Amino acid sequence: MAFNLLKGKRGIIFGALDENSIAWKTAQLAHEEGATFVLTNAPVAMRMGQINELAEKTGSEIIPADATNLDDLENLVNKAVEILGGKLDFVLHSIGMSVNVRKGRHYTNQNYSWTEKGWDVSALSFHKVLQTLHKQEAMNEWGSVVALTYMAAQRSFPDYNDMADNKAYLESIARSFGYFFGKENKVRVNTISQSPTPTTAGSGVKGFDGFFNYADKMSPLGNATAQECAEYTITLFSDYTKKVTMQNLFHDGGFSNTGVSQEVMENF
Ligand SMILES: NC(=O)c1ccc[n+]([C@@H]2O[C@H](COP(=O)([O-])OP(=O)(O)OC[C@H]3O[C@@H](n4cnc5c(N)ncnc54)[C@H](O)[C@@H]3O)[C@@H](O)[C@H]2O)c1
Repeated sequence: MAFNLLKGKRGIIFGALDENSIAWKTAQLAHEEGATFVLTNAPVAMRMGQINELAEKTGSEIIPADATNLDDLENLVNKAVEILGGKLDFVLHSIGMSVNVRKGRHYTNQNYSWTEKGWDVSALSFHKVLQTLHKQEAMNEWGSVVALTYMAAQRSFPDYNDMADNKAYLESIARSFGYFFGKENKVRVNTISQSPTPTTAGSGVKGFDGFFNYADKMSPLGNATAQECAEYTITLFSDYTKKVTMQNLFHDGGFSNTGVSQEVMENF
């Protein structure tokens, strides 16, 4: 089912690691909806090589970039504009990583150099991407930039660890940068707050399975899948959401506004 929502649009998609990745599903759907784009990921993530398969399927080129490295980002944006033959209409930031989570450090016992690394990768990288696009005047008017986030930015989820703080920072960047990008270039900037999703990054959170099932039982519509997240993202890249900007948009089957559900109550 394709609607040509992105016909003729050009973009960059960060963060497709494997077929479970939200960015992977978004790339596939963007392709079906008529977009052309460049795929990018951190050089280390590409060693697995799965991104080549996605590039082939979607007729895309791959340009490696560490999203924390400004030289890499500058090179990426320059090359993408050159390869795609014009300025960009959409960019997806689908990047997250916490060293404290990976190494099992508790939130009350942070290793701060790991905290800084995770913040740089998961939050500040969004500012770096936006600043590079802005400086290089790489976005077309009415372009759209989306980053992925989680509700731990608003409410406490103990096992989400320092990623909660990173997501709060990320969402703030969407508002702060969104103001200037809107005023000066008519570019919109939003974050999508997605349900727990079984991906490499998601499953890294301690107790993910219980957490996933709990959210599913709490949400009147059930958890949103990676594919559904891709579908929502495409609407934000389309021309039908031109005046939506500086928002954190919950895509969670209703979880964020549910106090308790009958299914959850039955367990008590
Ligand atoms: N999975 C979930 O439960 C869930 C829920 C809400 C939000 N999110 C967010 O969705 C986004 C995508 O994650 P995902 O769930 O698809 O998992 P994923 O593991 O497939 O994707 C994370 C990506 O970040 C990339 N990355 C890490 N360090 C990088 C760097 N320095 N430079 C460039 N890229 C780098 C990884 O290579 C990987 O491709 C993340 O922001 C994540 O926090 C995920």
